[in-house]
Amino acid sequence: MHDTTAIAAPQTAPSPQALAAYSRGPHYAEFHRHYPSVAYLRRRARRHIPHFAFEYADGGSGKDDAGIKRNWAAFDAVELVPRYGVMPSLPTCEVELFGRRYNAPIGVAPMGGPSIIWPGGDLHLARAAQRNGIPYALSTAGGATIEEVARVAPDVFWFQLYRLPADNHAVSRDLVDRAEAADCHTLVLTLDVPVRTTRPRETATGMSGTFNVDLPVLWQIMRAPGWAAAIVKHGMPRFASLRSYAGPNPSLNDVIAFARREIRGAFTWDEVREYRDRWKGKLLVKGILHPQDAEIAVSLGVDGIIVSNHGGRQIEALPAAIDALPAIVRQVGARATVLMDSGVRSGSDVVRACALGAAAAFVGKAFLWGLGALGQEGPGYVADLLIEETQAALGQCGVHSVEGARTLTIRHPGALHF
Ligand SMILES: Cc1cc2nc3c(=O)[nH]c(=O)nc-3n(C[C@H](O)[C@H](O)[C@H](O)COP(=O)(O)O)c2cc1C
Repeated sequence: MHDTTAIAAPQTAPSPQALAAYSRGPHYAEFHRHYPSVAYLRRRARRHIPHFAFEYADGGSGKDDAGIKRNWAAFDAVELVPRYGVMPSLPTCEVELFGRRYNAPIGVAPMGGPSIIWPGGDLHLARAAQRNGIPYALSTAGGATIEEVARVAPDVFWFQLYRLPADNHAVSRDLVDRAEAADCHTLVLTLDVPVRTTRPRETATGMSGTFNVDLPVLWQIMRAPGWAAAIVKHGMPRFASLRSYAGPNPSLNDVIAFARREIRGAFTWDEVREYRDRWKGKLLVKGILHPQDAEIAVSLGVDGIIVSNHGGRQIEALPAAIDALPAIVRQVGARATVLMDSGVRSGSDVVRACALGAAAAFVGKAFLWGLGALGQEGPGYVADLLIEETQAALGQCGVHSVEGARTLTIRHPGALHF
């Protein structure tokens, strides 16, 4: 089962102004010497933050993180065949998504609880995305408010919505109205959490569903003095966007209980249609793995699809998103923008995703590893590293742009055929 595309034609060089738009952070060289790939950041994060925080960020669902490992193996199995003999030049990573220019086909995936990994995490991620000119999607369960993110990341701010069905979706609707008032231009509806599943590594820390600082947790915090100092600076982790709905002066555990009680089920197609009518900006659905679901979404007027298995955090039996991607691109790629996430750990992975038809690849855990390893400097470094690697991968393959990646010859043994 090999998926191949047309043989690469030589690409034209990018315009010089396209290359000037992006510049690396000041500590790049030093960080790169110590952490030359995201795997190094993951190792450092494991030692640098409390155990419960690392297990929350890093653990998958079901047995042995099998879904996470499948995502990684599926990426590794995709081979890109390079073409040589064209004039070498530094490729541009710039892309246009939904009418806006971004510096790279890389986005920060929506994640609940980055401030558990590093206090203030959501805002560190948002600032890094703004500086690097890449999309940042704030989660419904994020640790910063819509208004805070709109202030620090006005050009790259997307909002992800979970379904809160109580009172005729009153909270979800209010969140959407707030996002619109804050000039957010892209709304992402997550469809792939129809039920709550368990992540054994998170459950085993005793911190699943509550945040209680008992003796073992205190010990973990004491062994992570940088994390503890960041708590003093940025305050305790919080679910800021939901806080105002969780009753008068709610504690962190009140907000967590509210989120667990009220976030229920995945949006139905009728509900997607309602959000399409309500939301004037770009509308995306996230968590699609079947071309027919993509087809239904596009028929309802959705602008984009994020092919995803939630980074292996729902059940471990789901296919790798990269394996479902080509069939979904074939089905709706001419009518909607197809993005993907789940398992991206390098610029080569980003180029693999783009070669298989994704307009951009979103990244979750790797950004959290950066946050855990380097605190507030981490997300910017991860963005720099992935952009640098993406540029190198494009150059190695003999193409000068992200679009050029689509002309490459590809071996993709795991591609799903529906
Ligand atoms: C700690 C954590 C929390 C997440 N929370 C959300 C969330 O609130 N909403 C959502 O749509 N996806 C959530 N996701 C899934 C990500 O958006 C994304 O699909 C996934 O992380 C991509 O896979 P990767 O981690 O292998 O890059 C979360 C992922 C992680 C790691």
